[in-house]
Formats: sequence, structure tokens, C-alpha cells
Amino acid sequence: GGRPLDTQTLTADKAGFARAATLLDAGGLVAFPTETVYGLGADARNDLAVARIFEAKGRPRFNPLIVHVPDVELAKRYVIWDDEADRLAAAFWPGPLTLVLPLRPDSGLSPLVTADLQTLAIRVPAHPVARALLERFGGPVAAPSANPSGRISPTKAAHVLAGLTGRIEAVVDGGDCDVGVESTILGLGETPTLLRPGGLPQEALEAALGTTLTRYQDGDPLTAPGQMTSHYAPGAKVRLNAREIDKGERLLGFGNVQNATLNLSPACDLTEAAANLFHHLHSLDQSGNAPIAVSPIPETGLGRAINDRLRRAAAPRS
Ligand code: TXA
Ligand code: MG
Repeated sequence: GGRPLDTQTLTADKAGFARAATLLDAGGLVAFPTETVYGLGADARNDLAVARIFEAKGRPRFNPLIVHVPDVELAKRYVIWDDEADRLAAAFWPGPLTLVLPLRPDSGLSPLVTADLQTLAIRVPAHPVARALLERFGGPVAAPSANPSGRISPTKAAHVLAGLTGRIEAVVDGGDCDVGVESTILGLGETPTLLRPGGLPQEALEAALGTTLTRYQDGDPLTAPGQMTSHYAPGAKVRLNAREIDKGERLLGFGNVQNATLNLSPACDLTEAAANLFHHLHSLDQSGNAPIAVSPIPETGLGRAINDRLRRAAAPRS
């Protein structure tokens, strides 16, 4: 609600980080790049600032946020740490892995961050701009992806501005995100549970844990409240596993296919495809309403995260 804000674009340099930190201190909303997607940051200790995230995105209040910290030491202030977390953090932080751990009762975080759950999702991002900003700010930053709820996640500053101009104080422009899909979310309860496939392949986690992961399924009790079926959706209809295109469709290709409007990776490289996924969905969204057919994508490595996002883009809209 309220009057539109004059959203500033900040440079990814010392002056920009200082300004961004000042805005966060004052309860402002600042979008910034991570290696996965752009996040919409607010001081995670400030109720009003966190409430404004939900308002700016149109996000349901029961969907909790990920807290971003500059290092493991700060993470331990907010969650109850254990040996397994230690091993995973040593192997994969900074990087595209979010750990869900018991919230410390003395965390001091706004209860809005966790939507009143007793667990907290937390990660140390790898992007140099995110790291510089977190270090400058020195506190916990709650940050969902910086897109209106239910829409495609942003992988560059222009995407953030297209969705949220007038609703946030600033965006730090740090160029394109290189992973291109959100972090992998791992629940560390009695058995480690994959809550969301993402930028860190499941295979890498399983190798580090020495076990196979249980996969959260849609329809399970609400352990990952954000896993709502329709999500990441462009305006146009999306059809998956298309081996040929129907009349009037645009093809989002993968591999060596004919007649693709855009191709995620002509060379069948899943890393490249993940990095291109949201860019291409944004481009297709901006260039018309004709339905989108998507080539089959293998369900391995980053392909799992890509297929997860595409299934949500193709799901019936509520
Ligand atoms: O790569 C990413 O993770 C990006 C960047 C900005 O860090 N962030 C991101 O945030 O994708 P968001 O809000 O779009 O997705 C967070 C997901 C949601 O599905 C939410 O339900 C889940 O994390 N989540 C948050 N806290 C949780 C908790 N305590 N237990 C289970 N799931 C949780
Ligand atoms: Mg999101």
C-alpha cells in the first residue's frame, strides 16, 4: 500500500554497499544479486521491514523466508548448530545451499521471518556483491527472491525493477546471476530431507552426506510452505516434454532442436540451461502471449531444479 517509492538503482561498489546498508538499517527493502537469483532483502530482526517484504511481493504470510548471513559464525547465532550442519557448511558454503535447522529461542529474529515455525532456513551466499553487502550490514538479511509472488524469479536488476519498482527502496545492480535457479533447500531433521531442488545438485549433497535423500513431495504436510504448485509462472501457457511444436506455440528448446524461439542450451549443458532458464522465461513473457512448449530436459544434476521450476510454470493457475 501507500505512495509509490522512488526506487534507486545502486552501483555494486563501496558507495553503493554503504547506501544499501543504511537503507536496510532504516527498515528499507533492498534487492541484491546472489549467485542464484536476486533477493529482496530486509533486516530480519525488524518486524516492520520484514512485513514490508510480504506486502511488496504480495506473498502469503505463511510462507517463511530465508535468512542470509556473511559467514557460519553468524549463522550459529540464529540456529541450533550440529555436526551435520558443520560438515555441509564446510563443503558447500558460501554457495547455493539453504539449511533448515531448529531456530534458537534467543535468535532475536522477527517471527514473521519463519512464519512462526520453530525452524529457520539460512544460507551464506557466494556472490561477491551479496557478500560485500552482508559484511557491510553486519546482520541477518531476510530475502526471498525479488519478484512479485508467483512470478518468475529475477536474474538481473532489470527483472527486479520490472516487477517491484515503486515498492522497494533500491536494487543493487550486480549484473546477471550465474547459477540462475534458487538454492537447494535441505531440511536437517531426523533424516535429511530435500525440501527444494536447486542450484546445488542433489548428487553432490548425497555424496557429502553418504546417504540418499528423501524428497519432499507436493501434497506432503506443509513442511515447505513455499512449495505451492503454481509458481514461477509466465503469462503464457506452458507445455512440458514437447518433442515437436503445435501450431502457434513457441519452442523453448534444449539440445539440438529445430525451430526453437530460444534455446536453454544447444549443447545440452545443464549448468548453462539453469543459468538461462529465468532469462529466457522473462524474454518469452515480454515478447507475447503465444503458448510455450519446452523440450524434454534430463532429470539429473541441475536438471532436477530446472524441471521442478518448469513443472510449476506449467501447473494449473489458482
Ligand atoms: O536462492 C535462493 O534461495 C533465493 C536467494 C535470494 O537466496 N531465495 C529464495 O527465497 O528462493 P524464496 O522465498 O523465494 O524461497 C524460499 C523457500 C520457500 O519455498 C519457503 O517456503 C522455504 O524456502 N522456507 C523458508 N523457511 C523455511 C522453513 N523454516 N522450513 C521449510 N521451508 C522453508
Ligand atoms: Mg521465490
